[in-house]
Amino acid sequence: MDFRELMTVRRAVRDYQDREVPMALIREIIKDGCEAPSGGNMQPWSFIVVTNRDAIKRLSDESKKNILMAIEKNPEFSFTKYKPILEMPEFNVFYNAPCVVYITGHKDIRSLASDCALAASYFMLSAADRSLGTCWIDLGSVIRDKEVRAEIGLSDDHVIGATLALGYPTAVPARPPRNEPVILKVVS
Ligand SMILES: Cc1cc2nc3c(=O)[nH]c(=O)nc-3n(C[C@H](O)[C@H](O)[C@H](O)COP(=O)(O)O)c2cc1C
Repeated sequence: MDFRELMTVRRAVRDYQDREVPMALIREIIKDGCEAPSGGNMQPWSFIVVTNRDAIKRLSDESKKNILMAIEKNPEFSFTKYKPILEMPEFNVFYNAPCVVYITGHKDIRSLASDCALAASYFMLSAADRSLGTCWIDLGSVIRDKEVRAEIGLSDDHVIGATLALGYPTAVPARPPRNEPVILKVVS
């Protein structure tokens, strides 16, 4: 697959086959994620891989609970539009993917958000190149409970920079339309 085709094939996948992703393959995709550029080449990312279905459900429930609490406190919160779906007990924010990968790093790294997003991009493209589906899941990224954080090895000084569902897609969705690029000005 050439790069142009790969960019089209990579889609946010929200329906996964009931099929595990081998850990060796997950490691290879993570390795590709680490080819991403990072500020000062600090490579501040570390990865948490969750393949235990019960743990994934706990993470989904924990994040849903925290987002719903935040919506309750501030109805202007941008996630408010997701309230009806978040209130559905059977809704799993990870769409029942067999694997969830958190890209995390130390909270004090200045470029952490950009670095993790870049690693996530490389990860998603690498997965697509291997016929795997991914979806960045902000709705699964609000993990506060001490026990849940301990279970996934997320220490107090680490924050989640990117949350990715990973698995074999049931189908690759159509490409959602893109806006024309806005080039504000060409200064030549
Ligand atoms: C920062 C970020 C957060 C996202 N969070 C969610 C999410 O919580 N749930 C979800 O279903 N999709 C989420 N997405 C996926 C986007 O909705 C998706 O990328 C977008 O609709 C474009 O579709 P495409 O990835 O197939 O091009 C997120 C994407 C990004 C980049």
